[in-house]
Amino acid sequence: MDSKNILLICGGGGTEHEISLTSAAFIQESLNKISSIRPYYVEISKDGSRVNDKGEQVELRKGGFLYNHQTEELITLHFAIPCFHGPPGETGEIQSVFEMMKLPYLGSGPEASMLCFNKVSTKLWLDAACIPNTPFCFIKDLEEISKASEFLDKEKEVFVKASSQGSSIGCFKVVNEAELKEAVTKALKLSPYVLIEKSIKGRELEVSVFEHNGKVVTSHPGEILCPENDFYSYEEKYSDKSHTDTVMKAEGLSSELLEEIQAISIKAFSLFKLSHLSRVDFFLSENKEIYLNEINTFPGMTPISMFPKMMESGGVSFSEFLESIIKNNVRS
Ligand SMILES: Nc1ncnc2c1ncn2[C@@H]1O[C@H](COP(=O)(O)OP(=O)(O)O)[C@@H](O)[C@H]1O
Ligand SMILES: [Mg+2]
Repeated sequence: MDSKNILLICGGGGTEHEISLTSAAFIQESLNKISSIRPYYVEISKDGSRVNDKGEQVELRKGGFLYNHQTEELITLHFAIPCFHGPPGETGEIQSVFEMMKLPYLGSGPEASMLCFNKVSTKLWLDAACIPNTPFCFIKDLEEISKASEFLDKEKEVFVKASSQGSSIGCFKVVNEAELKEAVTKALKLSPYVLIEKSIKGRELEVSVFEHNGKVVTSHPGEILCPENDFYSYEEKYSDKSHTDTVMKAEGLSSELLEEIQAISIKAFSLFKLSHLSRVDFFLSENKEIYLNEINTFPGMTPISMFPKMMESGGVSFSEFLESIIKNNVRS
């Protein structure tokens, strides 16, 4: 293969900006191990400007070119990696831009990204396809809060979630009316819709689902072990003081359960027409019921993230995976 120019674009200025930069550093390391490619790093900074790794202003141009305002160099791009958690990547916007540029890219298309990032649309689709997920209702504004109150009355403990956020931002555990109102008010400031979901007591499992040698494969489930009475909040995910442990191979799952998790993961990958990679998260209730919690179309790749580790514990290194996706999709 002639040397190919690979755009690694990250940041985005959203609530998960910093996490995106950490994931991008991991991807950059993996790109460095691949021969015949030249990575071009671009960060969409919080003020909306685009800068490269030298702090120079750059611009993506129609047709899939990268223009450097300082050096006046115009690079033809052959493949793009939209390394974003949240907008404008997991939400599908940048993929629409790449589609218009006819620039191939890593990960799911605009529609799949948008459907999976919005927690309400994900659940409506899961229900329609009979994929088990937690009971829920959703509201569009505070005027509908009585719907949420009725749901809380019935379930006693619920999770309130801003529809279009990740990393547990805008996600609250709620047990009474006062907490409900406060949580819904906060969540509505972050997203146009709010999901209210039955709280599940049990285990939290995650699976890497990815394309390998032309097939969709799943890793063995990993497990998140949060302290008692806590959940996998932003602090538990990213703070040095986190008390949460992660396990690459969840123990004690029967072969029937493993098969069920694998079948649901693959069904969801195919239902949403995902591409290349995803992490599918589950709850396993105390009475062994499995519920799909969410689908991440661009899973975290920070040092504590499960996605690349679960892939690797199944024998596929992330750089090997990335290399094969690039080689099979790069434009000439
Ligand atoms: N229905 C639920 N029952 C129990 N725990 C939940 C439920 N929903 C969310 N959680 C907890 O909150 C965390 C964040 O929720 P999640 O839906 O995964 O949002 P995010 O996209 O921000 O990761 C989960 O990892 C889990 O610890
Ligand atoms: Mg989650």
